[in-house]
Amino acid sequence: MEKSSNNSSSHVLIFPFPAQGHVNSMLKLAELLSLSGLTITFLNTQHSQECLARFTDIKARFLKYPGFRFVTVPDSLPIDSGNVAKVLDALKLESKPVIEKLLIESNPRINCFIVDGILGFVTDLASELAIPIIYFRTISACAFWSYFCIPDMIEAGELPIKGEEEMDRLITKVPGMETFLRKRDLPSFCRANGMTEPTFYMIMNETQQTTRAQALIMNTFEDLESPILSQIRNHCPKTYTIGPLHELLKSIKIRSTNKQELHQSSNSLWEVDRTCIAWLDNQPSQSVIYVSFGSFANLTLDQLIEFWHGLINSNRRFLWVIRPSSVTDKEGIVVEKFPEELQEGCKENGYIVKWAPQEEVLAHKAIGGFLTHSGWNSTLESIVAGVPMICWPYFADQQTNSRFVSEVWKLGLDMKDVCNRKVVEKMVNDLMVNKREEFVRSAARMAELARKSISEGGSSFCNLNRLIEDIRLMSV
Ligand code: UDX
Repeated sequence: MEKSSNNSSSHVLIFPFPAQGHVNSMLKLAELLSLSGLTITFLNTQHSQECLARFTDIKARFLKYPGFRFVTVPDSLPIDSGNVAKVLDALKLESKPVIEKLLIESNPRINCFIVDGILGFVTDLASELAIPIIYFRTISACAFWSYFCIPDMIEAGELPIKGEEEMDRLITKVPGMETFLRKRDLPSFCRANGMTEPTFYMIMNETQQTTRAQALIMNTFEDLESPILSQIRNHCPKTYTIGPLHELLKSIKIRSTNKQELHQSSNSLWEVDRTCIAWLDNQPSQSVIYVSFGSFANLTLDQLIEFWHGLINSNRRFLWVIRPSSVTDKEGIVVEKFPEELQEGCKENGYIVKWAPQEEVLAHKAIGGFLTHSGWNSTLESIVAGVPMICWPYFADQQTNSRFVSEVWKLGLDMKDVCNRKVVEKMVNDLMVNKREEFVRSAARMAELARKSISEGGSSFCNLNRLIEDIRLMSV
């Protein structure tokens, strides 16, 4: 990535939705653009910023970029508030005056917005002020495309879903997915109870707004999702794929510092427990299944117990992330203390942490599989590390990602809508032993393609350079 001598006038405002998966990947984008010499203002909610500062060296990390600064939006909602529509309403109200003030006071003047693709309200502001706006979507192209096609599915009567008996019926109105996408695999908001929620309409409308942006950035790579990207480009011709972002950032930093090994840039909003790395160091190669359901998903105690018995009965080693307050009883009350038998069962084969250094864990030689909720960042991190997956999607885009993991990319198994100890046990053994060879083969091949895309001349590497050039042209 070339530094331009004429950067000083290019100033980008980056604005993520305040949740771990969003802040994490947009910070990576911010760092990539800073490395190229662009001036960046990163607009974060106060709560996200405080969490970042508590658990990471975030300020020190960005100090080395003279053109970089954080600006905060005061907020009252925590990042893990599950009600996306409510968070968005609050964000809209609180961020508008901050952005307006920034636009008046910034020097150099802000000449491009890169905003999370679900913050459509910024588009009106940008068009009022004639500032180009680029959307960044933190989800996969396949999930984005199925969101985009929701109005067509409604028109064709494929949505709303009328009942459980329809769930395995194929969808015909998402071009490119007609042969394998079932109603069950649509983003969770499309399910009967989801379609009555404000979040469903918000996501559908925000996605339709994408065509108003000058361009779209996606954290994916061409070899992974090219047929779907062609469909998206019929509507959003300027779509830059620059993923896997975490790996692209790592490789560009290695190149720019000439160091072979770099510590991961942690953007964690929770405290990372690194003791699990020492535990992994003592486990045989590819013997451990890593279990994590990301930053949003909550389990009921019954589900936790099913996973638990399934893992113990499989006789495989496991490393499990259980976030504090992420397990509830039937009434939705948080369960902090688990039954005694569960704590005992863990001693021999398992290790539990509240939050892990995930990218490092997935790259560890002891890891042989990933039981995941199919969040897009986790999926990409697993792909780069060449680790096959068992998918237990929780909500939103995850339902679609898990179908692609199992049916299209053949990188693992989809356990969607089932949570039963016998199934967990069987799938863990299939992934780790019985069907291991085929999954490991496709995972290694996809990891190779991911690495190719971020290396010099690769699609993501070139798209990033194109994006930077286009941003520079916006300030001329
Ligand atoms: C949700 C969506 O499903 C995702 O697709 C969307 O882009 C953002 O919101 P989330 O639950 O945050 O995602 O999952 P994911 O996208 O996988 O992101 C989780 C991030 O947290 C990953 O980068 C992962 O490395 C990190 N993580 C998770 C840790 O660092 N430690 C952990 O213990 C668990």
